[in-house]
Amino acid sequence: MAKLKTAVLISERGSNMRELVAACNEPDFPAEVVLVLSNNPDAPGLEHAKEKGLAIHVIDQSGFPKRAEFDVVLDSVLRDHKVNLVCLAGFMRILSEDLVNKWRNRIINIHPSLLPSFKGLNTHARVLQSGVSFSGCTVHFVRPEMDEGPVIVQAVVPVHNGDTVKKLAARVLAAEHKAYPLALRLIAEGRVRLVVEKVKIDGALAPAGVVINPTEKS
Ligand code: GAR
Repeated sequence: MAKLKTAVLISERGSNMRELVAACNEPDFPAEVVLVLSNNPDAPGLEHAKEKGLAIHVIDQSGFPKRAEFDVVLDSVLRDHKVNLVCLAGFMRILSEDLVNKWRNRIINIHPSLLPSFKGLNTHARVLQSGVSFSGCTVHFVRPEMDEGPVIVQAVVPVHNGDTVKKLAARVLAAEHKAYPLALRLIAEGRVRLVVEKVKIDGALAPAGVVINPTEKS
């Protein structure tokens, strides 16, 4: 069966991109990365994509003061690469409503909290400040409102006494690296259905030893 043609959009380090690329390089993985795109020409993650011989495209956002103009170029680059699915992986830029609607249910994002809690920036500091006992990450379909959209996969991590932002961020990031490839696999296998803005997953089982959704959601 044809693999799902996936674009990964990054702005900085790109560790989630690296995990998605590694998963796609497994022989039986149902998706392939056809494009790594960044809005930042200096994103360190681009180096890794280059080393892996992937197609790279930079749309330097400093040349596009208007969001709509950036998004027109983005749309055409995605179409040029015949992209089926866009994975935002630390892509620190809000997409216009127009672009999100054009690509409805074909853009997913990872956020370092258990959405809908702790949307936005400085997530881990706010989690620590709030006193909650668990945090985690969420992979979700993108909607025009920031960090909104049907949840596909979530992974939970504990918040420990004496945690710092750095420690918690590292724990959550390790969970992100499991959750994002799992979400991509589920979509590429055609197991993710949207029913009235809620995700149903056909016969999906979480990998052993990880507190991660979905267990069985159908
Ligand atoms: C990740 O923790 C991701 O969840 C977060 O940025 C980091 C990117 O790391 N994204 C957001 O906060 C989006 N709202 P990476 O570049 O190493 O993948």
